[in-house]
Amino acid sequence: MEKFVVKGGRRLSGEVTISGAKNAAVAILPAVILSDEPCIVENVPSISDVNISLRILKEMGAEVTMLGKDAYRIDPTRIDKYCVPYETARKMRASYYFLGALLGKFNKARVSMPGGCPLGDRPIDQHLKAFSVLGADYTLSQGMIDLTADRLHGNQIFFDVVSVGATMNAMLAAVKAEGLTIIENAAKEPHIVDLANFLNSMGANIMGAGTDVIKIRGVERLHGTNYAVIPDQIEAGTFMIAAAATKGDVLIKNVIPKHLESITKKLEKIGVNIEQFDDSIRVWVDGPLVKTSVKTTPHPGFPTDMQPQIATLLTLAEGTSIVTEGVWEQRFRYVDELRRMGADISVDGKVAVIEGTGRLMGAPVKACDLRAGAALIIAGLAASGITEIEDIFHIERGYDCMEGKLRSLGADIEKVNFPDSTSDSGNDGKKEAV
Ligand code: EPU
Repeated sequence: MEKFVVKGGRRLSGEVTISGAKNAAVAILPAVILSDEPCIVENVPSISDVNISLRILKEMGAEVTMLGKDAYRIDPTRIDKYCVPYETARKMRASYYFLGALLGKFNKARVSMPGGCPLGDRPIDQHLKAFSVLGADYTLSQGMIDLTADRLHGNQIFFDVVSVGATMNAMLAAVKAEGLTIIENAAKEPHIVDLANFLNSMGANIMGAGTDVIKIRGVERLHGTNYAVIPDQIEAGTFMIAAAATKGDVLIKNVIPKHLESITKKLEKIGVNIEQFDDSIRVWVDGPLVKTSVKTTPHPGFPTDMQPQIATLLTLAEGTSIVTEGVWEQRFRYVDELRRMGADISVDGKVAVIEGTGRLMGAPVKACDLRAGAALIIAGLAASGITEIEDIFHIERGYDCMEGKLRSLGADIEKVNFPDSTSDSGNDGKKEAV
């Protein structure tokens, strides 16, 4: 097993380059299935969720060739399997994008229900509603979702909740359906727009992505493309907060500043200096950090995937801050770990009250999910003493070489091996899909 060992107290400074967006890549890679020709996808982050997506494509019969560190040629023309089994699906929540992509291409799909989940209830009723409205029948049996359709036809889909995954899956299924599909109450995240741009680059006809009404006119076939995934908004935001928490001065390159607006505004309120350039952003702190209130909401609001990181920063700020989680039922599980580092946080349901103590102390802690893990790294960087973070596989699902990038900014962080004390129980320590 591996853990991160962080010696805190070093100010981050220098330049760091952000990788491609996880939540765009995990939808774009399955979307290649819809093409009748090979596609080249660039700016793909080196993270375990991408490795799993590529493995699923290969298992289905696609030919995947690595063209460089972050580029792949994927030939989907020989795909002859339409199933994602439990063993693979449980490792990655986003395996549900294979449902929309396979249904859209072959009018059938069989994908295991995504596995355990640490953010509270994560239903997929809205995904299934979209497939059904487009003309598919679904059955759930023995943990597998089966979708079949004689043909898919355009229709009006109204989502009862704003869902990133359901919006993307509806786009994947509708892109070749006959006629016009109108998705209402659609999610507006940057990765929704990126998926639409990718599909349009293959010949799809999608309008309105990035607003809450998306119109898709079905096309008969999609052709190959060469496409670069957008930079990761959340990785960029995480580095912005790491810079702020260490009172550092960092230039974060390969970003789209517009995607970072809600994060930028909140950080400025806390006392962080930010200067935006065309495709980079400089973050530095030269004064005290002060309290604020944050509520997470779907885009363009403050992203839930930045909530643990900003809460960690607020433990270092003066005064009492309030953080309200507006998307997930349970996204404060990391708070117990921060308390072990000296944070003063109380949680009542979806609201956390943070008494800024201005300091954190190193401690052994565990990442309970991806963003919680990133928050613990930030806490470790800012803390006095040594922080050891276990269960780092969560972090490696979504951050491309985080420790290497932090080291290049002057952080003292190492990945070290340690014996797995639970190995006798057969626990591989990697059971959760997020
Ligand atoms: N929801 C439903 N029914 C559905 C789908 C969602 O009730 O059929 C509810 C959820 O329970 C939740 C809310 O709608 O309360 C929003 O969920 P959404 O579907 O938007 O989330 P997701 O698509 O499963 C993606 C990201 C998450 C991110 C959320 C919100 C991917 C692979 N995952 O999840 O990313 O938190 O959108 O922005 O894109 C992460 O990267 O750390 C992460 C968890």
